[in-house]
Amino acid sequence: MAEEQVLNTHNAEILLSAANKSHYPQDDLPEVALAGRSNVGKSSFINTLLGRKNLARTSGKPGKTQLLNFYNIDDKLRFVDVPGYGYARVSKKEREKWGRMIEEYLTTRENLRAVVSLVDFRHDPSADDVQMYEFLKYYEIPVIIVATKADKIPRGKWNKHESAIKKKLNFDPSDDFILFSSMTKAGMDQAWDAILEKL
Ligand code: GTP
Ligand code: MG
Repeated sequence: MAEEQVLNTHNAEILLSAANKSHYPQDDLPEVALAGRSNVGKSSFINTLLGRKNLARTSGKPGKTQLLNFYNIDDKLRFVDVPGYGYARVSKKEREKWGRMIEEYLTTRENLRAVVSLVDFRHDPSADDVQMYEFLKYYEIPVIIVATKADKIPRGKWNKHESAIKKKLNFDPSDDFILFSSMTKAGMDQAWDAILEKL
């Protein structure tokens, strides 16, 4: 795999968690952020790409990741795990706090090279998914759409689901669209290629 020529993906660790700018790492390593609905599979995506079982904490319980979690990968790249949106059982105040935290990161972070925007391959994108994609396009932040949980959809229906998702997102065909499964590791090489291309 190409990424293994560039970095040792197994040399990875959580670096720090940040609520705001003053806590971000202070160097110029490139960063790739993971955004998506709560429970869509952001932490699983990180674990799969790094070949680790539980580096990024996953859970059946949505809304667990509350801060921006920075992962150091071989001192060359960082993944930033962003708390999931669209979790119903949080207060309006919490949601606003989340909004400010993510907006501050996405709009001011010079290290940011791309956002991997995860959507659930099984369903039409939510209003929040559409809004996130529009936001990234508006700020001209390079975006990689990763459709997770592909293992749950039979191959015969892949085209139909892909078309529905692209239509709802008003998908720009010059962006990457990657079918992914952390169960089967489908799409892992494509995801790495897309990420490395953005650095
Ligand atoms: P928050 O941190 O709460 O925002 O969630 P998250 O987006 O990090 O999701 P997480 O990776 O914790 O995954 C949520 C649940 O979905 C877990 O039970 C995972 O095992 C499951 N899951 C994630 N990716 C896949 C996948 O590709 N296929 C299947 N079948 N299950 C998955
Ligand atoms: Mg998570």
